[in-house]
Formats: sequence, structure tokens, C-alpha cells
Amino acid sequence: MLIDGKETASQIKLEIAREVESIIARGEKRPHLAAILVGNDGASETYVNYKVKDCAQVGFESTLIRFEEDIAEAELLEKVIELNKDPEIDGFIVQLPLPAHISEANVIETIDPSKDVDGFHPMNAGRLLIGLPCFESATPAGIIELFRRYNIPTSGKHCVVIGRSNIVGKPIAALLAQKRDLGNATVTVCHSRTKNIKEMTLQADIIIAAMGQPGFLTEDMVPDNAVVIDVGTTRVKSDKTKSGFKLMGDVDFDAVSTKCSYITPVPGGVGPMTRVSLLLNTLKAAKKEIYH
Ligand code: GUN
Repeated sequence: MLIDGKETASQIKLEIAREVESIIARGEKRPHLAAILVGNDGASETYVNYKVKDCAQVGFESTLIRFEEDIAEAELLEKVIELNKDPEIDGFIVQLPLPAHISEANVIETIDPSKDVDGFHPMNAGRLLIGLPCFESATPAGIIELFRRYNIPTSGKHCVVIGRSNIVGKPIAALLAQKRDLGNATVTVCHSRTKNIKEMTLQADIIIAAMGQPGFLTEDMVPDNAVVIDVGTTRVKSDKTKSGFKLMGDVDFDAVSTKCSYITPVPGGVGPMTRVSLLLNTLKAAKKEIYH
């Protein structure tokens, strides 16, 4: 069965829009997300433009702040500090990757955790790991929401995560292993140095492919009736799309979809849920749900 992330995300956006209406009806401030974009990377431009468009759709304010590729780290940090202090801004993100001369760690650690709606600050990443309320990284949160809405149980299941990034692999592994609803899974994390990935995936109930290698997960690696979540979003040139690019997932979709119980497509699977998770985090920031 296809897991329709696009449709699920549309549904959640309607729910958010309704909540924004009631916030405004109470005379409270419209939620406001800011995004900092450094340079002209095509993929980053696309993602940030989507985020701005998403905000408009649900009734959030948004502000896009752009800097040239050669901005000094100190100047970027000053802007982050300014946004930390600005009472108009509920949450903000700094689009990654940043140019090589800027330390992503310095930038992320300068963001006030209470406005860190990407959930990248060590305070949020650490709180996620030990199960405290926090801004959860958007892609893992989106995947868990798909499990919730499709009634896919995780308790006692063996989840094999392929990829160990700070923004997907590590946090989804932590959430799935957490002692709580939509957790309680046995989690195996595989990565580029894992010797026997196929042996691992063949023992999985749920496979989460998040390593950014198009078509990596092939049919022979997937047990019958597994749940397959494809986090891959590699942009490749294409003459068939308006943008000139198409997105490729980490899963060989045509072959794998014939034998698994559930699968997410690319595009239209995890991507729209990631974007909607950022909106949900911004709403939580505006309502001061996590940090009071
Ligand atoms: N680059 C790739 N994914 C993300 C994301 O979720 N947030 C930010 N800020 N940068 C990214």
C-alpha cells in the first residue's frame, strides 16, 4: 500500500490553518517563521521557497533573509542573535548546508533552543535522545506522524535505519527506540561502514532508507510485507520536469513496492511530511508549548 505523504501533509496543513484562525480570533499574534538562506545553491533555494509557500498556505507570517555566499561567519551569527531577540519571530531556521568557511556547529549552537524549530541545537537533539519535550527534527517527526496516521505499529518491531546523519538517521533511531507510543522498537542503525546491510534489512519489519544513494535498497534486500520508508531526495537532471530536475529516492521503488506492505514514494512521501513538521514546530514555538 502506498503511504501518501502529500495527501497526509495537506490534511495536516488544513488542521494547522484552522488552529491559526482560532489563534487570530483570540486576538493573538500570527505565528511567524524566519529562514536564513546563504548563497545560491539550487536545492536549498527550492526547499526554502517551499517553506515560505507552506507558511502562506496555513496563515503563518514568514520572512526570508538572504546573504551572499561570502558572508563572514560573524555577520551571520549577528543575524542569528538578532532573530533570537526579536519578539516578532517565533522560530527560525538556517538552511543547510552552509559554505565551507562557516562552521555549521557554531551557527546551530548560537540559535536559541526555544526558537530552533529545526531541532538541530544540541539542547533539542539531547532532549530528543532522553525523551524530554523538544523541537524534534522535522524528517523523523514526519515519519512518526505517518506511522500514527496509517496505524502502522512500531512496538516490538525490528526497524533497520540505513544512514546515521544528525538530522535523520540518529534522531529517527532514538525516537523509534523510545519507551513510548510509536516507539518501543528494536532499532539497528546501518551506515557506510556496515559490512552486511542486506543481512540486516532481511531481518527488518520496518526499513528506513536515509543515506542518499539513489536506488540503493533493492528487492532482494527487502523481506515480504516489510514497511519501507524512503528518505532519499537526490536531485538529478531531467528533461521531463519543469524545473529541469527530478528527485530520486534511496529505494528501487518499482521492484520493492511489489513485495512490501507499505511504501513511501519519492516525491510525495516523506518530503511533504518534513515540511509540515516544520510548520507544526513553528506552531508549538508560537504557543510556547515546549519552552515556556
Ligand atoms: N538542509 C537539508 N534539510 C534541511 C532541514 O531540514 N533544515 C535546514 N535548515 N537545512 C536543511
